[in-house]
Amino acid sequence: MLNKKTILITGANRGIGLQLVKESLNKNFSVLGTFRNKLKSKELYDIKSNSLNIFEMDVINEASILNVSNNLTKPLDYLICNAGINNGFGNLFDSDHSHTSMLNVLNVNVLGCVLTIKYLKKNLNSNAKIVLISSTLGIQQHIGSNATIYRASKAAVNNIMVSVSEELKSENITVVSFHPGWVRTDMGGANATLSAKESANELIKSFENLSFKDTGKFFNYDGTMIKF
Ligand SMILES: NC(=O)c1ccc[n+]([C@@H]2O[C@H](COP(=O)([O-])OP(=O)(O)OC[C@H]3O[C@@H](n4cnc5c(N)ncnc54)[C@H](OP(=O)(O)O)[C@@H]3O)[C@@H](O)[C@H]2O)c1
Repeated sequence: MLNKKTILITGANRGIGLQLVKESLNKNFSVLGTFRNKLKSKELYDIKSNSLNIFEMDVINEASILNVSNNLTKPLDYLICNAGINNGFGNLFDSDHSHTSMLNVLNVNVLGCVLTIKYLKKNLNSNAKIVLISSTLGIQQHIGSNATIYRASKAAVNNIMVSVSEELKSENITVVSFHPGWVRTDMGGANATLSAKESANELIKSFENLSFKDTGKFFNYDGTMIKF
């Protein structure tokens, strides 16, 4: 089909990313999904669709992102930086906040988005939309002390979203961040309020409603704006 929109989703092998793949296929997008470990990607591999292409990509490995960039055959209408990790819900004084685990979270969640955008920017269509999957845990005004470094990583994601949105204004590229809701995934846990399908379904609708006037803003999965 001629007017198919192309969407690239990172961390597409499980959780919200996998469901974003399925929902965008339902919406007749041409979908590119990235995974970092084939052994953990069976469900993604099992999707049978001519509209889906999958690529191995680690968001903190520049060479692997460049490799994807060099192998894309169509410009992207949507770039969704979804891949992320959490080192746990403890605070700075808990064992889950070791130096190594804190560095990993900052590396994947913050630099992963930066590197993905840096090396895939040349693959973007004019008027493309870049979406960073952030979290309301990253809002600056809060009273929680848990998930200290995860919160900091998502605050940084929102800050970087603003910088990149300013940088790309002259090219009419829209850059926003989204909170996907509290979602039942490996990260969100079994008690979360939304299924991955519910979150992804609303997210895709909200992505389709984005326009350039939205650039620099943070949204809930249902498209309502969030102050950060
Ligand atoms: N679930 C929630 O309630 C919730 C709430 C707010 C925000 N979020 C955000 O939503 C996004 C998706 O979360 P989720 O709940 O779907 O988490 P998830 O189920 O834990 O999935 C995380 C995804 O990110 C991928 N990933 C991790 N590190 C990567 C790397 N270095 N390179 C490439 N891919 C990598 C994982 O791949 P592997 O399988 O290889 O590990 C997996 O596909 C994250 O950014 C998260 O912070 C989630």
